[in-house]
Amino acid sequence: MPRIAYVSGRYIPHADAGVHIEDRGFQFADSVYEVVALVNGRLCDEVGHLDRLVRSLGELRIKVPMPRKSMEMALREMVRRNRIKNGMIYMQVTRGVAPRDFVFPKKSDTTLVMTMYPAKYDIPARKAAVKKVITVPDIRWKRRDIKTTALIGQVLAKQAAADKGAYEAWMVDDDGFITEGSSSNAWIIDKNRNLITRATANNSILKGVTRSALQALCKKEKIKIIERKFTVAEAYKAQEAFCSSAVALIAPVVQIDDKKIGNGQAGEITCKLLDLYMEYATKNGGKQERWNPA
Ligand code: PDD
Repeated sequence: MPRIAYVSGRYIPHADAGVHIEDRGFQFADSVYEVVALVNGRLCDEVGHLDRLVRSLGELRIKVPMPRKSMEMALREMVRRNRIKNGMIYMQVTRGVAPRDFVFPKKSDTTLVMTMYPAKYDIPARKAAVKKVITVPDIRWKRRDIKTTALIGQVLAKQAAADKGAYEAWMVDDDGFITEGSSSNAWIIDKNRNLITRATANNSILKGVTRSALQALCKKEKIKIIERKFTVAEAYKAQEAFCSSAVALIAPVVQIDDKKIGNGQAGEITCKLLDLYMEYATKNGGKQERWNPA
């Protein structure tokens, strides 16, 4: 079964899909993206991801490539053509093709591409697959609220993690506080069972859609979340820790640098949150109220 990609209106075999060499996404990373999980045939948190895509485009003054309904239809057509029940959809929108010039082109059509990959959502396996993270300096630009494809800072951070046999790199700001993971939000649970994650103020992190969904679930379950900055030293002392993203969902962390977290297994609260999230994702497709960028 060949994989199918989408390139600006056309569904093409993955191996043949491409964009122009003067696409601004290629030359300037002048583009934004989203990753949406497909869980049991349902697009997880689709509303939140499409809301954020439109917001990111607006922040960069890139045209929205098509009406919302058409985007929803194209996503479903990707699922149908790829015949995947559990996986990920990657969507990227660029400012389009134009002769290389830093200034926005007067006229260009946005490029929209989508690719799809299979994934497994085996919950016991995910709980067992405990992760190590390392800390690295956060060397990125200041608009981390925009989900741009200018990801070289994150690429270097993730490679530093991979070099040390770790799953993720938690990036640290100039004041010693953790911002987020290279491709996920960072969470710790302290000895008083407080769930702590950095606030999205000052555009210092990406407002994760999974993070927002978790916040809503915790509110329902009366689990308190404290949104505040935390230091590396505090993270070392955490009882539990995890990463959240559309790809990781909720990934238990049991080691930060050389410090063990908890008893080496996924923590109790982390497991409960993963169960809650999966129930939400599989039962109603993670249908979310409108995602709030504030
Ligand atoms: N990354 N922070 C960063 C820097 C991210 O790149 C991501 C997601 C998140 C979590 O956001 P969400 O819950 O909406 O996936 C936080 C995606 C998955 C990626 O780049 O592959």
